[in-house]
Amino acid sequence: MGDSGKGVSQPYVNYQNEIFARGILEGSLPQLTTDPNKLRLHAKKVLHKNAYNYIAGAAGEGATMDANRLAFRQWKIIPRMMRPTVPRDLKITLFGEQYDSPVLMAPVGAQQVYHEDKETGTAAACAELNIPFIMSTSSTSSILEVAKANGDHPRWS
Ligand SMILES: Cc1cc2nc3c(=O)[nH]c(=O)nc-3n(C[C@H](O)[C@H](O)[C@H](O)COP(=O)(O)O)c2cc1C
Repeated sequence: MGDSGKGVSQPYVNYQNEIFARGILEGSLPQLTTDPNKLRLHAKKVLHKNAYNYIAGAAGEGATMDANRLAFRQWKIIPRMMRPTVPRDLKITLFGEQYDSPVLMAPVGAQQVYHEDKETGTAAACAELNIPFIMSTSSTSSILEVAKANGDHPRWS
């Protein structure tokens, strides 16, 4: 997948091919599901009750969350047949920085509630995947800790 740290960007489809190849040739399934609903159930099993409720709870009766999901479901992937699809370029430029795809990590506060790596862990993963990490004002890591977690990533030097 995207790996700006090394200046090399792999197409996301390689990940799908890897899943298929491992499943068919080695009978080995991915550690995690690609189905968000099953992922939620898995999270419920492995997380502390308070941590799970913090993330999954939404606000009030969850009306906004329902509306957001419904809106997201209106987006469809349109297959484009009989056209060249390689090379595929999903790159975007944001605030003068180039990213491999238009995917951003939304700000999520108090990440220590559900993982000991807190924001530093998420930021490091984002840096590895060349995805912008948006830091919440309610973070449980400081800006400096997050910057350090990105190590020698050029964006922080
Ligand atoms: C557990 C949790 C914590 C969040 N914390 C913040 C926050 O600190 N600051 C913020 O601006 N948005 C926060 N959000 C909102 C998300 O960044 C995002 O905008 C929201 O989840 C809507 O996106 P969605 O419809 O894809 O879930 C939080 C969301 C969740 C689920």
